[in-house]
Amino acid sequence: NDDTNLIYEIVAKIGETDILDGKKTMTSGYNTSILGPVIRLRKGQQTRLIAKNQLNESTTFHWHGLEVAAANDGGPHHEIMPGQEEILEFNVIQEAGTLWLHPHPHKKTAKQVYEGLAALIYVEDDNSDQLLIPKDYGIDDIPLIIQDKTFTDDGQLDYQADYQADGTLGDTSLINGTINPYVDLTKGLTRLRLLNGSNSRNYRISFSDNIPFKQIATDGGFLESPVELTELILTPAERAEIVMDTRQLAVGDTISMLNGDHALIEFNQVAMPIVTNELPTTLNSIKRLSDEEVAKLPMKEFRLAGMGETVTINNEKFDMSVINFETKLQSPEVWRIINEPSMMGGMIHPFHVHGTQFQILSRNGTPVSGADKGWKDTVGLLPKETVELLIEFKVPGVFMYHCHNLEHEDNGMMGQFLVK
Ligand code: C2O
Ligand code: CU
Ligand code: CU
Repeated sequence: NDDTNLIYEIVAKIGETDILDGKKTMTSGYNTSILGPVIRLRKGQQTRLIAKNQLNESTTFHWHGLEVAAANDGGPHHEIMPGQEEILEFNVIQEAGTLWLHPHPHKKTAKQVYEGLAALIYVEDDNSDQLLIPKDYGIDDIPLIIQDKTFTDDGQLDYQADYQADGTLGDTSLINGTINPYVDLTKGLTRLRLLNGSNSRNYRISFSDNIPFKQIATDGGFLESPVELTELILTPAERAEIVMDTRQLAVGDTISMLNGDHALIEFNQVAMPIVTNELPTTLNSIKRLSDEEVAKLPMKEFRLAGMGETVTINNEKFDMSVINFETKLQSPEVWRIINEPSMMGGMIHPFHVHGTQFQILSRNGTPVSGADKGWKDTVGLLPKETVELLIEFKVPGVFMYHCHNLEHEDNGMMGQFLVK
């Protein structure tokens, strides 16, 4: 029932997690010692969230990708002191998608995410209910939060020691907070909900033997139809839902999901599926504007530049007391994001906007195709790349835009705007 109230209590807390053999790692998580439960929301549902901070420092609860008014968005203006809590109430207005929760306190986002605070949010709706796609949680609909961390000899995380101004990288990859992960598959089609929950690492995801897979959803919803791929790039904060087809495998066969040539997780086929539906060819309908309509829209430009501590957007660093611009509710705009050429060769910057889902119109002037046509809240820009976004806000208030390389964000590669 779409009208029922949903109440969740979400507690950020510190705990100990068994990640490495024979060692306890101090970590933080939501309602658990690392990461958190899947928070299930539904389009049209009135939702009440009670967010409690049991850490020993302030934090915020940011619902990345969720279209809620800025007062509920958990950006850096909404710090909750240790021992305090906040009640958030909102109506879910967006379609089915895989979003996530993470902290966003000023200059401490990277550290808190690295220490374990991240959880998935699933929004469902009538369309996702009806689609004949894998949706059995943990059986053939599997969340995969992909991260990298470095452990000290005694098994601890030391963010200060590992810190790199251009993005902290771990030497150990983790899936859902575990190392050397594997999954036993019992169905022929398996949906994987991928989240790049790393501070700064970009992933080039493929499967062993270059087995093709289908992407069915991007950050903010289903694609119009499945897109067949053999690899995809996932920059920090991006999500992709993909479906892997293992109907050709024999019982006992294993395939790996790879980042480049490094195995992230193993899948073991342990049973033969008797019947499996093909994926539907139509998954969603996405409203689009014509080129003529887009050409009439106002445009804003964002220049991403610098490295390490010198990163800026439009030559400015984040200043809590400065609203960089204003924009109108319910009025589409084009945002042109430019990853400025640099002497040093440049970097990938994942550009993220709070409070909305946007469409990518073009990359370097060429209209996008395939999975680039889905709803997004984060778009990875390669060095020297320019992308144009079609963006519109349905909820009011002050929101952030920033690079989701979390060290860049904490170093000020961020701004804020007022929607009214
Ligand atoms: Cu995922 Cu401003 O954040
Ligand atoms: Cu966000
Ligand atoms: Cu960046």
